[in-house]
Amino acid sequence: MQIHRQIAILLLMVAFAACSDERREERLRAAGPEPDLAALLRVADADVGQGKFARCSACHTITAGGANLAGPNLAGIHGKGLAQGNPRFGYTAALLAAGAHGRRWDDATLDAWLADPQGMVPGTSMRFAGIPDPLDRADIIAFLRAS
Ligand code: HEC
Repeated sequence: MQIHRQIAILLLMVAFAACSDERREERLRAAGPEPDLAALLRVADADVGQGKFARCSACHTITAGGANLAGPNLAGIHGKGLAQGNPRFGYTAALLAAGAHGRRWDDATLDAWLADPQGMVPGTSMRFAGIPDPLDRADIIAFLRAS
């Protein structure tokens, strides 16, 4: 009996995994061949991005008025200037300099940052390897836009 229950749970998990993969394939198909960032953002899903934000939440809160942890609170970050999001956070000189000329967190800068923070801003204190998958990044950008 116990074994049967475990098998049933396993099958359910496989079914769920297959479902989410199917959506992913479906969205990638809808984005077209070799999709650029704009095309990926058209099929991006903020709810999926919210799930993927789990890997950020060790260092960032996202609700308005949330605490600064190792990284600054990210509520409403989309559209703000680099290193301007949170006046009480101690940004690095590197990120402050990168934002000195009015550079903003738009889709393109967020995409470059999430792909490789150290590559975009050498000397940043965001110790994060980056997200290689472009659709994962687009989902997170969609979530940040909505937050
Ligand atoms: C290990 C901790 C850590 C993780 C994980 C992390 N960050 Fe950060 N993040 C930081 C730190 C520290 C900074 C400030 C960098 C600086 O001042 O150079 C930062 C800065 C940022 C900024 C710029 C904020 C501003 O006000 O200009 C954004 C946007 C950001 N992170 C997004 C993310 C996202 C999205 C994820 C998940 C995919 C993530 N971070 C994962 C630590 C982290």
